Amino acid sequence: MKVAVIGAGNIGGTVGGAWEKAGHEVTYGLRDPSKKDGAKPIDAAIAGAEIVLVAIPAAAMVDFVCEHKKGLDGKVLIDATNNFGAPSMNSWPDVSKIVPNAHLYRAFNSLGVDVFANPELGGEKADLFYAGPDGAPNEKVERLIEDAGLRPIRVGGTEQVDVVDGVLRLWFTLAQSRGRRIAFKLISD
Ligand SMILES: NC(=O)c1ccc[n+]([C@@H]2O[C@H](COP(=O)([O-])OP(=O)(O)OC[C@H]3O[C@@H](n4cnc5c(N)ncnc54)[C@H](OP(=O)(O)O)[C@@H]3O)[C@@H](O)[C@H]2O)c1
Repeated sequence: MKVAVIGAGNIGGTVGGAWEKAGHEVTYGLRDPSKKDGAKPIDAAIAGAEIVLVAIPAAAMVDFVCEHKKGLDGKVLIDATNNFGAPSMNSWPDVSKIVPNAHLYRAFNSLGVDVFANPELGGEKADLFYAGPDGAPNEKVERLIEDAGLRPIRVGGTEQVDVVDGVLRLWFTLAQSRGRRIAFKLISD
């Protein structure tokens, strides 16, 4: 798949790197593309992609979406940004108004980068809880989660974004005492 990864720091670099290894065509979109080989200006990276992962500071999310709304609308938009310290971890009420035709997914935000760097813990593949619309875009998002080495668990549609953010809060709280190499498994009969 053709994927734009906006931001090439901890999350963008790690998840994007896993997708590159899995054979996806990954283009990093950066404010200063000279910082990474093969990176492009953000608008060019978005233009060439069907799926966009946003891995930039959460405080910049709404401005980013406003600035690139033409390019983003209609695309699959995976939001990994976490607004620590704000009333909500996500900025979806604003984002969904700015790009109403984007297929908005909440994924790659509920575990730490230490897990994404190697999603196998204790011999088991970590589950990644995510939310977003069902249908064709969802199949692509699931494939990308699998290709990053995790098992996708869809919590529900767009309206479940805060539940996924609850998983992040649980992960973050436990990580304070147990360390960042922890993750979750859904088990059932
Ligand atoms: N680290 C984690 O464990 C973790 C886990 C889950 C989710 N997250 C979330 O993922 C996001 C990225 O975290 P990170 O740890 O990867 O951060 P990071 O290592 O600091 O990387 C941030 C990236 O965003 C770019 N950036 C900064 N401000 C920007 C802006 N205004 N517009 C466009 N690009 C900008 C930076 O590029 P420049 O060189 O241009 O500054 C850099 O490539 C955050 O929202 C964080 O909450 C982090």
